[in-house]
Amino acid sequence: MNPFDTLAAEQLLSGARLLGPVFRRETTASTNDEVRELGLAGAGEGTVVVAEAQTAGRGRQGRGWHGASGACLMFSVLLRPTVAVEEWAALGPLAGTAVAAAGTQLGGAPLGTKWPNDVVSGGRKLGGLLLEGRPPEFVVLGIGINVRGAEADFPPDLRATATTLEAVSGRQVGRETLLAGIVNELDRLYGWLLEGREAELLAEQKRRETVLGREVTMRSAGRILRGQAQDLTTRGELKLRTEAGEIVVATGEVQSVRGLDGELPV
Ligand code: BTN
Repeated sequence: MNPFDTLAAEQLLSGARLLGPVFRRETTASTNDEVRELGLAGAGEGTVVVAEAQTAGRGRQGRGWHGASGACLMFSVLLRPTVAVEEWAALGPLAGTAVAAAGTQLGGAPLGTKWPNDVVSGGRKLGGLLLEGRPPEFVVLGIGINVRGAEADFPPDLRATATTLEAVSGRQVGRETLLAGIVNELDRLYGWLLEGREAELLAEQKRRETVLGREVTMRSAGRILRGQAQDLTTRGELKLRTEAGEIVVATGEVQSVRGLDGELPV
């Protein structure tokens, strides 16, 4: 596996705001920690750290993230949003949409999002996002995507639920191209957030969201909730119609999804 080529990735970045620089680490604890340190030292928005391997990669809800070296694209981006801190909650679904859009363009197979922060295909997860904020100064957006390999290569506990971009698209997409594609899409959608183009942003997110209209079981703030996923809000929340009425869920984890045909749209 060739080492990640930071120069090639930087040359593919075309955005107005998120232009790098892109730093590479052979091994680090977590790229989120690296970018946080850079953020504290005053680094500019758009600074990226990519790692070949992480020794303490973090996932959401206190889980770990174990990405196989070279087969997984693991990186973090520094953002310094100029919108009110309450609006930062929109960044998770926004970033998921950017990853799904870029992966779809480059792989040719449709990818979707699974609220709040997963990227999926055929109901299987191929990527996830972890946002760690230090409001009002900056937020670190960490992204992990399974790029190479077959579903059978995953450990037994993940084999039925995880996939890779290569497995769903049949294409080998270079990690530099994928990173730049994601950051460029992120730049476009993040620009909409900063410019107050909330309606357009929400429409794009809803086009990619796979749980809408589905019966879901989810865990939120220690409670198990069941209902039909109705809508997303501009603050990154999920509206759920439950037996007790409509509720708006800010954070949580969708545990199972059931549609009329039992299939997810992508
Ligand atoms: C999840 O699906 O739970 C989120 C996974 C996020 C993993 C990425 S890999 C790069 C960055 N560094 C980390 O420690 N985590 C994120």
